[in-house]
Amino acid sequence: MAETTDQRQAVALDFLGDLKRTHDCGALRSSDAGNRALVMGWVHRRRDLGGVIFIHLRDREGVTQVVFHEDVGPQVHARAEMLRSEYVVAIEGTVEKRSPETINPNISTGEVEIVAEKVWILNESRVPPFPMDEFAEIAEDVRLKYRYVDLRRPQMQKNIILRSKVSFAVREFLYSQGFLEIETPFMTKSTPEGARDFLVPSRLSPGSFYALPQSPQIFKQLLMVSGYEKYFQIVRCFRDEDLRADRQPEFTQIDLEMSFPQKDTIFDVVEGMVKRVFEVAGFQVEGAVPRMTYGQAMRSYGIDKPDMRIPPFHCVEDLFEGQGLATEGLPLVAIHIPNTGAPTRRERDEIKAFGQERGLRVFDDAKRLERDFPAQMEKVRERCGAGENDLLIVAGWAGEKKGQRPEETVLLACGQLRLYCAQKYADKHKLLDPKVFKLLWVDNFPMFEWDEEEGRWMAAHHPFTSVLDEDLDKLTEDPARCRAKSYDIVLNGVELGSGSIRIHRRDVQAKVFSSLGLSDEEARMKFGFLLDALEYGAPPHGGIALGLDRLVMILAGEKSIRDVIPFPKTARGTDLMCEAPSTVPDRALRDLGIRLR
Ligand code: AMO
Repeated sequence: MAETTDQRQAVALDFLGDLKRTHDCGALRSSDAGNRALVMGWVHRRRDLGGVIFIHLRDREGVTQVVFHEDVGPQVHARAEMLRSEYVVAIEGTVEKRSPETINPNISTGEVEIVAEKVWILNESRVPPFPMDEFAEIAEDVRLKYRYVDLRRPQMQKNIILRSKVSFAVREFLYSQGFLEIETPFMTKSTPEGARDFLVPSRLSPGSFYALPQSPQIFKQLLMVSGYEKYFQIVRCFRDEDLRADRQPEFTQIDLEMSFPQKDTIFDVVEGMVKRVFEVAGFQVEGAVPRMTYGQAMRSYGIDKPDMRIPPFHCVEDLFEGQGLATEGLPLVAIHIPNTGAPTRRERDEIKAFGQERGLRVFDDAKRLERDFPAQMEKVRERCGAGENDLLIVAGWAGEKKGQRPEETVLLACGQLRLYCAQKYADKHKLLDPKVFKLLWVDNFPMFEWDEEEGRWMAAHHPFTSVLDEDLDKLTEDPARCRAKSYDIVLNGVELGSGSIRIHRRDVQAKVFSSLGLSDEEARMKFGFLLDALEYGAPPHGGIALGLDRLVMILAGEKSIRDVIPFPKTARGTDLMCEAPSTVPDRALRDLGIRLR
């Protein structure tokens, strides 16, 4: 008998024996009236009205009402009195139509109920740590500790089932396009994607470590060298980085690679796949996915993953030249959010403070600007398409030029201010409707990003990305202006996927390693096998990886990927249910040749 925390009578459990389900709990309709049914599942809810007991029986497919009448079957009714939340039961009875006033339109089986004639109690349950009610507000740490119960809640079941359907649709689509599903190793050597590696000590080579892959990047490239031409994998990746709502230390990528592709070839595959996935989730995405370069995205949105549900901002420095509004030679930006009505004093102060904290000079009073610069402001309004009822903010840089790409520093700050303004009015004006899906391709990212801490250029995507043909000369001369054959697919302001056309020539790869400050020796040590492989007939190739967790999160309308991952980690990277990470016995460390400090 399982230990229970509450005071309940001991229940004698029944065996499953040779019982077989006839229906699942979502199946019965009024056309089944008069038939017999044997259903199995969990007691979702129980109402005891004395002579009559109602239970809602739940399984993966839905909920069915079962009724126990004392006057019809006193023994069965007595058994039903013992039932509590989450007990596991099998029930056999006759399906009956409900009277019109008792029909429940909220469940698919709401027109019928089963009049129970037999009940088997297959297992009992302790009082669940939280109600199964989908509307209950439950602290996340409790949910994660009792994840096996949390995953039973209809909302979580919906999400996990959606995830399974999405994976299936991806597989089906990619197989139909001639892709092969090929596995790559988990115990491997470091693959640089910008995060720290999780390391696995080797017992057989003491002092040596495997790295868990941050992505299958190098292996999928090697598969192209090996002539497989179209590869994909729905694959777990591991990154030891700071966690957020859309980041987990282990997450899943839809990873693909093709030989001899144009960028368009890859875009077409991904668009086809994403549209199919949307269909499966019950949404339609119409038309071609718009495209813009990184440069355009920065000059219109101040971010590399624009949320297209909010209008762009507009650069207006040409209209205010020599007026001293902000640092000259840098962008001046007009941010426009439609239909907000006149901002209150408090809203304006908050917007101003937010911008100032990011180094901006913010002109939050459009009326005053209009008094001082009537002709210019008329043009600003025209450029933005801003009406009288819209929020209009002008912002520029307040101080010295900053960063390796100073213009970008300003645009990024303005981009944050645009999002801040939009979020302020989002609820009031349905600006960020989660049921509206705006996809976008952003391409030609900068090849390098300056790392302040290390004082050197780092690969903006990863070091295997090709440079634009026309920027090849800038690799060493002007790395700040060097653009890459890289691209992101963005969905509602979230980076869904990222990819590039790769370097397939050894000489170019060596040049890029050298621009990244890797000596020949370091490059050989880290990636010698890749450099060697590029010397054995590597074809032009390229690919992309999409975050499966992020895709399902957006489709499910959730705010965190934790809600679409069956067993996720907390923001501190721990598993509250099985209490990982954990210490290990000294003996295990000794075997590995490890001593803890
Ligand atoms: P990248 O590092 O941009 O590219 O990753 C691709 C996509 O994976 C998802 N993603 C994550 N999801 C959840 N938690 C994380 N910690 C996390 N990190 C990344 C994002 C992201 O867009 N090898 C390249 C791809 C390529 O070039 O083909 C790569 O991994 O949705």
